[in-house]
Amino acid sequence: MYSARYEYAGPNGRHEQIDFFTNKEKVSSKKKTGIIVGALLAVLVVAAVVAFLIWLFLFKDADSDATLHRHISPTEQVFSGHMKLVGAQYDEKLEDTSSEEFESLAKKLETELGENYLKEPLLAKYYTKSVVTAFSEGVTAYFWSQFYVPIEDLDILPELSEERVLESLERGINQQRTGSSLSDIKITEVTASFTDPRMARNPRANECFYKLEAEETEKSFSSPGYPVAYPPKVRCQWQIRTSESHAISVKFPFFHVEDDCTDDFVSIFDSLSPDESQAITEKCGQRPPSNPLEVVSSGNIMLINLIADTNVQRPGFAAEYKAIPKSELQTCGGALSASKGVFTSPLYPVFYPPAIDCKWTIQVPAGKKVRVKFTMFRMKEPGVDIRVCHKDFVEIMDTKYCGEMSTLALTSKNNILNVHFHSDESYTDKGFSAEYTAFDPENPCPDKFACASGICIAKQLRCDGWNDCGDMSDEMKCHCENDQFACGNGLCKPRMWVCDSVNDCGDGSDEKKCSCEANEWRCGDGVCLPQDIVCDQKKDCADGSDEANCQASLGICSNFSFKCKNEECVNKVNAECDRVNDCSDNSDEESCHCGTRPYKLNRIVGGQNAKLGEWPWQVSLHFQTYGHVCGASIISENWLLSASHCFVTSSPENHIASNWQTYSGMQDQYNHENVQRRSLKRIISHPDYNQMTFDYDIALLELSEPLEFTNTIQPICLPSSSHVFHAGMSCWVTGWGALREGGQKAQLLQKASVKIINDTVCNIVTEGQLTSRMLCSGFLVGGIDACQGDSGGPLACFEESGKWFQAGIVSWGEGCARRNKPGVYSRVTKLRDWIKAETGI
Ligand code: ARG
Repeated sequence: MYSARYEYAGPNGRHEQIDFFTNKEKVSSKKKTGIIVGALLAVLVVAAVVAFLIWLFLFKDADSDATLHRHISPTEQVFSGHMKLVGAQYDEKLEDTSSEEFESLAKKLETELGENYLKEPLLAKYYTKSVVTAFSEGVTAYFWSQFYVPIEDLDILPELSEERVLESLERGINQQRTGSSLSDIKITEVTASFTDPRMARNPRANECFYKLEAEETEKSFSSPGYPVAYPPKVRCQWQIRTSESHAISVKFPFFHVEDDCTDDFVSIFDSLSPDESQAITEKCGQRPPSNPLEVVSSGNIMLINLIADTNVQRPGFAAEYKAIPKSELQTCGGALSASKGVFTSPLYPVFYPPAIDCKWTIQVPAGKKVRVKFTMFRMKEPGVDIRVCHKDFVEIMDTKYCGEMSTLALTSKNNILNVHFHSDESYTDKGFSAEYTAFDPENPCPDKFACASGICIAKQLRCDGWNDCGDMSDEMKCHCENDQFACGNGLCKPRMWVCDSVNDCGDGSDEKKCSCEANEWRCGDGVCLPQDIVCDQKKDCADGSDEANCQASLGICSNFSFKCKNEECVNKVNAECDRVNDCSDNSDEESCHCGTRPYKLNRIVGGQNAKLGEWPWQVSLHFQTYGHVCGASIISENWLLSASHCFVTSSPENHIASNWQTYSGMQDQYNHENVQRRSLKRIISHPDYNQMTFDYDIALLELSEPLEFTNTIQPICLPSSSHVFHAGMSCWVTGWGALREGGQKAQLLQKASVKIINDTVCNIVTEGQLTSRMLCSGFLVGGIDACQGDSGGPLACFEESGKWFQAGIVSWGEGCARRNKPGVYSRVTKLRDWIKAETGI
């Protein structure tokens, strides 16, 4: 793999997000609409429940008590929070839930809470109990209160709001008189927020409840049943404390909890209460070793919950915890005056602590300016509009940034740039890492082109038809060369892209006046027909392109249609495995256990080394004693896909299955941990493979023994023969091939983002060597490409549906990464039927 520059925009960011909401979003009384919607929902819920009960009693044998019980049981509402007490002496014994001190103070506060609620008729009606769960220095008491709303009263649920509970507690505080159940103790401050009832635990009951004391030396704990599996219906809590001068850091070197966060999750709080307003994070799924979850508290307490409701067996987590001096958290911000450097959010890449502010002042010599480039930026928080960033943010030149960003680069107006990082009390994330450099505004990018965003790119990339800056500034105000077409919007595009049926300009100007009139449709073969033949449920163009993407054209079968098992045709682009049933027999959504990466990887921008588990279908093929020679991809437990030219050579040895070994789940050629080695039973090269032209460069490899799919070993989806990978789409090529033309093979798996190149263009640049079994991908300006040793490996494209499909097989190219010499790949869609015929897949 050769790559001279980075490609930032990965299509995969979206599906690496692991933040989620549980069912406890806040209802704001201020928002009347919220109440109306809530009331309507409640009415709907009641109606649904009534309908269900009628069905249950009238039509269904009431055979199961459990079901009956569950459906008529009242709804539980839990609020949790903390209160600050004055007049009470803090005593370490308060930390021991079995001590008399704990018992007596807890009882008093529980009574006081109850009395407050009982003064409010609505709360009084549904209040069941309050439980004080802990005390900490200060003196702070942590509690939760529970309310039961019977089914017939469900419509009042919206009124049982956080605001109402809080108001009643605050009223109670203001009316405190000496002589109440609390005697001399006064509550001065109280918080309460909605809490998932599954997290309301009674520490005195001691079921799966742990108290840990963090010290500077690291200690560990793990989920019950780890590393085999946590039991179903788990509710566990870990209360961690440390001395007042310290904060707590917890790292999860192993983390694998069920993927669906509504059932199973781990939630972490900067409090001893599961109080949403103090949540640090909530996570589920599994994380690779390269992206461990690592969080810190702001104070000397932390609460960790494990909640599980599925019967799916998952190993759980292992955690390491330790105390870190609070002074370490505060070491952020400051004055930066070097000509370049790096600064990061506190503790990066560990999650930054809640409630912290850092300010950096970057000052460079007068006359110069500052450029800041974020190489990683992740500050995601539930319920935050990234245009406003009202919670955690980075503020630069009066603009706040939050969320996840793959490219963020800014330049200052003068020689000073202020950066402000803010994290509020709830939800934290990985934060950011940024590089800054001083530059001369007269010559911002010596020997390079300066994008409007401030980043510098190679001069040749200017006006080449590709958006290299990310903000299009390299393609603006171009004086179009003779071999370029001047688009209506001012862009220049290679002349050969004109009338190729791809809207390269973006405004369609390169596809206008292409032999057809404005009111005409141009068929794939260039024939012009009246516009109204499109989607008229008749095939008018010879290639059927007029009916290719029409909802209503059922029954019409063209080369563009997806063919269902029952011979029906679906005229929808890329209908297979898109999570929508298009065929009446649902065959378009069959065999879709492919193309997903189980590991939740964090996107770190830059660098071309692949992460473990990032390309779980990638295989390394070793020949005799030569080590790695070719790549392949996993398409099922028993079959790999590769290139014929790896096996059909002048040496017959290459075609002997026993001379090969395959390695799946590998990232580092010298690390075989969790790698599955399989020998080959059979090599099937395409009978039409042509050693001269590389036409039909495809081979199927049958394994001697099936693979066992794991986090790092998964099949990629094969596209149907009608699948479209349109020109301009970014896909990824991976392999251990040479790092430069004529160079050495890579030890670590490499990845590169390459663009699909339009066929007309490709045929021109390859001087007519392209056949319909080939496709081009790369960059005409050169710089990024596959290379020797990548052959047989996959060109993987991420589809909107959230799955990866294999568009190509690395086949050939003139040199590597040369200008106007893109990589050529075997076109999988064209060879799809042969794969099916040989393997049944
Ligand atoms: N044929 C080469 C191999 O055996 C792969 C060449 C790919 N070259 C390219 N420039 N894309 O590994």
